[in-house]
This record gives sequence, C-alpha cells and structure tokens, in this order.
Amino acid sequence: MLAATVALIFVVLTACGGTDDEVPASGPGRLEVLCTVEESWCRVMVAAFEAETGIATSYERLGSGDALAALRASKGSPKYSVWWGGPADGYVAAKAEGLLERYVSANATSVPAASKDAEGAWTGVYVGALSFCSNRAELARLGLAAPGSWQELLSPALTGRISIAHPSSSGTAYTALWTVMTLNRFDEAATFAYLGALNANVGEYTRSGAAPAGIAGRGDAAVAVVFAHDCAMAIDGGAKDLVISFPREGTGYETGATALLAGAPNPEAGKKWVDWVLGAEAQELGAGAKAFQIPMNPDAKAPALSVKLGSLALVDYDFTKAGQQRQALTSRFEREVAPPPR
Ligand code: F6P
Repeated sequence: MLAATVALIFVVLTACGGTDDEVPASGPGRLEVLCTVEESWCRVMVAAFEAETGIATSYERLGSGDALAALRASKGSPKYSVWWGGPADGYVAAKAEGLLERYVSANATSVPAASKDAEGAWTGVYVGALSFCSNRAELARLGLAAPGSWQELLSPALTGRISIAHPSSSGTAYTALWTVMTLNRFDEAATFAYLGALNANVGEYTRSGAAPAGIAGRGDAAVAVVFAHDCAMAIDGGAKDLVISFPREGTGYETGATALLAGAPNPEAGKKWVDWVLGAEAQELGAGAKAFQIPMNPDAKAPALSVKLGSLALVDYDFTKAGQQRQALTSRFEREVAPPPR
C-alpha cells in the first residue's frame, strides 16, 4: 500500500509541468505536451499517460494565444511534440502557419467532421460553452440580476466590474470576440463598437481565460465572461456565491482540440498521446480534475456538472473562419481597445 502510494506520488511529481530541468523535453521515451487547459487537468493527464505508456511526460501550460506565439517562435523545432487543449480556432491559425503535423488517429472516427480538420491537422477532444459567471452578492449590491444578454454587460452599473481575458493571449476571450462578430453578422465596425463599449466596464483583462471566474468568485468583479465549465469549477471549488447565466441572443462555444506539432522532437510518442486523449477512458479523467468540459468521445460519460448544450441558444460558430481572422482581429483589438496584459 505504502509502496503503491510512493509510486503514485513519484509518477505525479515527475509528470508535473514546466520543469524542463527535471524532465528533458525530447529524446526516445520522453514527451513534452503544450497544455492549454487548467493546470490540475494537465497534471492528471500527463501522469495517467505516463503510467499507461511508460513514456516520461511533462507539460507546460500556456493560454491559446501564448501557445501560438511560442510555437511561432520555435517554428520547425518546438520543444513540445503535441498541443492539447484550447479552442480549435487557435489550431486553425496554427495550421495556416505550418505549425501542425497532419495525423489522422484511428480513434478519431467518432469525432464529427465539423469537430476535426479534414486533413488531420487537429482533432476535437471536448466541447464547452461561453457563459456569464456572476457574483450574487456583487450583483445585489449593484441592484442587478444575473446578465441574460450581451447588451446587459454594457450597463453603466457594471463600470469596471467585468473581468474577461484578453483575446491575444486567451482562446476563451477570442471565442467571446468571435461570438460578438457572429452576432453582428461579421460587421467588424459594429463588433469593435461593442467591444469598445464593453471595455469601459472591464476592470481587468487577464492572460488566462479561466482566471476571471476566480476574480468574480472573490467578489473582485461582478461578472466574469468565461466558459461555463470554468465557472462550475470555481463553484465546485468553494466559490458558492457564483451563478452561471447565458446570453439569450446566443452564446459561443469551443471545440477544444489536440494536434501533433510540426518538427515534433518525439512524433511517435506524440501520436500515442493523440490516440490516447481521443479515447473514452482518458476523456473521463477530466471530471476527477474538476474539469467539466463535455467529452467529445460519445462513449465517455459527461461530468454531472457539464453544461447541457441542448438547453442553450448557440451562435453558428465557424472555427475555420474564426481561426483565419484571429491574427487580424486580435491585432485590431490591441490597437483600438486594449493592450495585452503582462
Ligand atoms: O481548461 C479551461 C479552458 O477554459 C478550456 O476549456 C479552454 O479550451 C482553455 O481553458 C482556454 O484557455 P485560454 O482562454 O487561457 O486560452
């Protein structure tokens, strides 16, 4: 029993991320994962993969925009072999820049065509819907109900009281930006007029997409714009004052993806990772890490706290179009709305 516990601790510790000094990034039998979900889930996944395959696995957690920037900077010779997590539009952008290696996993057959790249550059692993994550006490203090529309976020009562990530660094925030684009029928001027007005109510742009849930949980913001599963994770973690609501005009959603990277130091281990994360067993590990995304694999059981997509008004979110315009729209956001946070 003691030996098993010690072995498990060893596996978890050796798998913990961002530790290039402890676990070499490349070479036979080693794998480094670029991880764009919450740290707790990254840790659980690399430990389970290592236990399953014997491949020494480490990770680094970076938000979607930061991940893209890191891949660009090391184009052709990344230290990671795979990218796992983060909305598919970031992967569309990465594919266009030659940063991904095509790999069609045998386990991708159950993934719907709309949730994977036709040429195998990336494959969907989970789904999440964008939400408003509000602090009840703060709302009561401001005399507001939980927001039920994008327009309600512009209420003067919310000046400085909204928290959202910056779309340059975060896929969550870019999902919000593209949702507003879609609702405005791709009218960029109308979209940026809205984002400019929203900016007056944003107290803080974070780098990571999920961070605003914690900020609202502490009462340091009244409303956070985050994926519903990140609000659910904060509530489950003790932020009981938070309440989730959705915009009635329609909300955006993500297909969280995975991909083998171009120039991967260990492509064979990378392929094993892609095969494994597409399996039902691996996808059910999220719940244990309090990650309440909806698994893409139909054989994987969705966590009880996952959002019920059928009950929501969803926008027609086009990942390809969103990915193609990512660079241009985030640059415009930096120029006209707000610079990225440090
Ligand atoms: O793990 C939480 C999560 O919301 C994922 O569902 C999502 O794909 C990812 O974070 C996006 O992270 P970021 O907004 O920091 O790029």
